[in-house]
Amino acid sequence: MISTLQSRMLRGADGDPAPRLAFGADYNPEQWPRDVWDEDIRLMREAGVTVVSVGIFSWARIQPDADTWDFGWLDEVMDLLHAGGIGVDLATATASPPPWLSTAHPEILPVTATGETLWPGARQHWRPTSPVFRAHALRLVREIATRYKDHPALVAWHVSNELGCHNVYDYSDDAARAFRIWLRARYGTLDALNDAWGTAFWSQRYSDWEQILPPRLAASHPNPTQQLDFKRFSSDALKEHLIAERDLLREITPGIPVTTNFMVMGNTKGMNYPDWAGEIDFVSNDHYVHPGPQDRDELSFSANLTSGIAQGKPWFLMEHSTSAVNWQPVNVPKRPGDLARDALLHVAHGADAVCYFQWRQSAAGAEKYHSAMVPHAGADSDVFRAVAALGATLKTLAPVAGSERETASVGILYDWDSWWASEQDSHPTELLDYRQEALDWYSALLALGIRTDLITTRNDLSRYQVVVAPVLHVVPAELAKELTRYGEQGGHLITTYFSGIVDENDRVWLGGYPGALRDLLGIRIEEFAPLLDGVGVELDDSSTGTLWTDRISATDADTEVLVRYAGGELAGLPAITRRRSGSGSASYVSTRLGVEQLTRLLPRLLEPAGVRSELPAGLRGSVELTVRRGAGARFLFLVNRTDTSLPVTGLPGDVLIGTTGQDGALVLGPREVAVLRQPAT
Ligand code: GLA
Repeated sequence: MISTLQSRMLRGADGDPAPRLAFGADYNPEQWPRDVWDEDIRLMREAGVTVVSVGIFSWARIQPDADTWDFGWLDEVMDLLHAGGIGVDLATATASPPPWLSTAHPEILPVTATGETLWPGARQHWRPTSPVFRAHALRLVREIATRYKDHPALVAWHVSNELGCHNVYDYSDDAARAFRIWLRARYGTLDALNDAWGTAFWSQRYSDWEQILPPRLAASHPNPTQQLDFKRFSSDALKEHLIAERDLLREITPGIPVTTNFMVMGNTKGMNYPDWAGEIDFVSNDHYVHPGPQDRDELSFSANLTSGIAQGKPWFLMEHSTSAVNWQPVNVPKRPGDLARDALLHVAHGADAVCYFQWRQSAAGAEKYHSAMVPHAGADSDVFRAVAALGATLKTLAPVAGSERETASVGILYDWDSWWASEQDSHPTELLDYRQEALDWYSALLALGIRTDLITTRNDLSRYQVVVAPVLHVVPAELAKELTRYGEQGGHLITTYFSGIVDENDRVWLGGYPGALRDLLGIRIEEFAPLLDGVGVELDDSSTGTLWTDRISATDADTEVLVRYAGGELAGLPAITRRRSGSGSASYVSTRLGVEQLTRLLPRLLEPAGVRSELPAGLRGSVELTVRRGAGARFLFLVNRTDTSLPVTGLPGDVLIGTTGQDGALVLGPREVAVLRQPAT
């Protein structure tokens, strides 16, 4: 993966063979008159742009009707970019079908769970399972790939755009047909499906495959396993579309790497990206900040998780914003320094490219108030000056290109099945927020200055001294075995409420909770005791739990009670436990504690593993540390999490970027990022 990324994408089209970090944006020249294009190329060169994504929403321009193709303008754009030394990540242009297509074939339009059609007029109004859409999309891909296969500007393919952004859940008849095929492949027989779905309940037993539907609006809660399988199917349906485009591109241009931009951010949970990552030549991600108290922790979390999905290999930041977006309730601009810090935080977590949506801010359309590299004000603007400064910084950081993430001692396990299943309806509480719980553990580890990797079940758990698995709700038998082995071989597992409860079919592990993890944790719970919104329960370490409590019995002589409930019905009973097994341990936290209380608790939970911060004491909590490792060097990224200047002492290494005082000592300005280079031993 690195070699393709390095050999094509990072070099751009100027022929310079040295590895570098790519810099660029989505470029939409079709929105502008021809004379603007020359200025675009000039400014791109001034800013240090090396790559742009072109054609993402150009279908209607490239194919104005079913039998007409118009490539003249795109030929010129490709030539101009090449002459400017800028590489093109060329889109397959299939993200937004043109009006002629949706008029001729309204049967490509997605349908909601309540039976409403998603009409054209915005974008992504297509059913992932529509054979008609697929045929038209692949025809377009073939035309584009054939036309540009030998163009010297072409460095990569950009399949569609943010697959599933607006159309992940489609409940149409096409979806129903494809869902049945998917279920037949998964279960083989109707008996197996009836058993997995528990259809003995509420008279749901199916006697013919044709009776099965997507979970459309129903009289009450649709079958939970049907809901979970529909989520899996919907992710797979988009993945199939990705594979169909990719296969065609590989047939026509076997040497050009293929990617598609993921959305590992916020509450985008429809697409199982760990499962998609193996299908593309390099991972790309889009990320937008949601302003709020944990906004940059969330950025770090998402970038870190993208790195986990990419197996620690470099990845591509395909989109983020220079300043405000247009789609939040209130769109606040970034503060000075945020533009560089946000970009470099992604690089700290393995991005080998920093790209934006978009190059030039649109004058019309739904995104005209979304920031860009060249704002409405033009190049004489703070945003463009900050962009050009970042371009120069990325040049200095060229030695980082190609380096991988150095494994941390702590991993947080993030699991799509658990995310999907734990938040379904008809549960003990609807207040549970899977991602927020994981983010809180991450923020607490950041506050302690402990380097942490976000990982998925496709990463090797045994590389971590500690694995934190918040709300690991779905635990198939194989995963239970793996976690038990991990504990027996000296690993330290920390898990929480509502973990180990169901298998892959959302069927409860019987005999007492936390079913699949009961023996490993050495505890047993007979009944959940979630808390009403706003209710807190005192613990005897003076913290307060919310959301959830459990009536825990310790079932093993090696189970210690670390913290007990101090108030409420459960006063005196265990709230946080730890069972030691050999040199490993397994801890259980039965309530929601939030960032500050987790920060106080964590040193106790980490103590048996002997994990501590690699940062000098004065920087812990104020600075985020990440490490990338290359052939001969380690790169330490130091990100100032605060709004004050911090002197940095006690960390050896050459300053690759960063501000040094008169005495030569490194000072991290507010929200500043420094990179130190150390020899790799
Ligand atoms: C997404 C899309 C872009 C643009 C941005 C705006 O990331 O891929 O086309 O709409 O959002 O933030």
